[in-house]
Amino acid sequence: MADLHLSVDRTAGGVTAQIAGELRAAVRQGRLAPGARLPASRDLARDLGVSRGVVVEAYERLVAEGFLISRVGAGTRVAPAAAARGPAHDTMPPHAYHGERATTPDLTEFPRERWLAALRHALSTMTSDAFDYSDPGGVPCLRRELAAYLGRVRAADIVPTDLIVVGGVAQGLAITIRLLAGESPGSRVRLAVEDPTAARQVPLLTSSGADLVHVPVDDEGIDVEALARTRARAVLVTPAHQYPTGVVLSPGRRADLMAWAAETGALVLEDDYDAEFRFDRDPVGCLQGLDPGRVALCGSVSKPLAPGLRLGWVVAPRGFSERVRQARADLDLGSPVIEQYALAHLLASGEYDRHLRRMRREYRRRRDAFVAAVAAHLPEFRVRGVAAGLHVYVELPEGTREERVAEAARDAGIIAEPAAPMRSRPDVGAVVVGFARLPPHRADPAVRALAAAL
Ligand SMILES: Cc1ncc(COP(=O)(O)O)c(C=O)c1O
Repeated sequence: MADLHLSVDRTAGGVTAQIAGELRAAVRQGRLAPGARLPASRDLARDLGVSRGVVVEAYERLVAEGFLISRVGAGTRVAPAAAARGPAHDTMPPHAYHGERATTPDLTEFPRERWLAALRHALSTMTSDAFDYSDPGGVPCLRRELAAYLGRVRAADIVPTDLIVVGGVAQGLAITIRLLAGESPGSRVRLAVEDPTAARQVPLLTSSGADLVHVPVDDEGIDVEALARTRARAVLVTPAHQYPTGVVLSPGRRADLMAWAAETGALVLEDDYDAEFRFDRDPVGCLQGLDPGRVALCGSVSKPLAPGLRLGWVVAPRGFSERVRQARADLDLGSPVIEQYALAHLLASGEYDRHLRRMRREYRRRRDAFVAAVAAHLPEFRVRGVAAGLHVYVELPEGTREERVAEAARDAGIIAEPAAPMRSRPDVGAVVVGFARLPPHRADPAVRALAAAL
């Protein structure tokens, strides 16, 4: 007979539902295996201090749901198929679904108070109608605020109707690529990506309909001559801070890239994922501002605020933007509206800019501390891509294994990812290190510990 540990609060009411809920959870979690026999209702009622009828009713409910079976003479047992109902809820990873990323911002710095105030403002000013399905392209005030913000901060050239609110860069890219690939089943688009590139994005790109061609990145960014040889119809680039190398696309290459797009009619997908964080001089404007008719600019609040908000944008050329909006309508009718109003308020009130200014200063201190610590304790390591963003690209001396460094770094409290999975051809060994969550005072001891371990 199954040994049950049910916790039932007899003073709370709904005792039948409580017992049923506890038993259901026990079956789902495998604590009650298929075929296990349950106590007689009389015995369980006595153990729990409830009336027998309550237990009988709870058993009946679970029999009706298919968790239990009841046969005269054989008592009540867990149904044979009950275990196949899927994983128990508490086996879900509690957080960090994709593991630690080098590019994640310091989430302890999320502006909780300001976000709360913005939510409160949204909820107290939204009309009742605003809780309905909104424009699938996003609520108008957010589209206007984002268009103005991107014009100011990224030198983008945007008409608000060409800005579509999406659930992050990831969704923006998925929708855009699906449209480029075309409507017919199985149709694909030849998409050039930088080499090295964000390996995590690859499944998203290919499942959206992209056949990838890898184009090398050098000290100036993507090699546009090599790109021209691929006959790709679109290219995905990270011009402000190449992921993962951190190279900023040079002025010459920017011009070459846009000339290539104009000549071939290709679309440039600009992933502007961490462009707000440029430390040593003013940010370089986005490519979209150079030629709004050839670029789809994708960005999000994942770095400035938090990835969990799942709020971003696609700014697409006129006409194409309407197709993105329609695709969002076909997919899921748009992003949650309350958060959109809250973000609009954060932007309009200047709080978003204030938060960014503070974080830019803070991240610059962290970068400086990390870079100085590497110079002091690991002088044979070469740190690249320091001008912007939340990560640097650390090239390793010959013979040093990426995996070993990443592991030792983690042990020392530094987030580091091997670069090999991001490359399509052999190159100098490197790890991608996130400095955003390493406070300045911890950088030196952490890097010293890493050096000692190696
Ligand atoms: C290269 C790159 N692009 C985009 C993103 C952000 O994606 P999203 O806006 O969907 O959170 C990340 C996040 O880690 C990234 O590394």
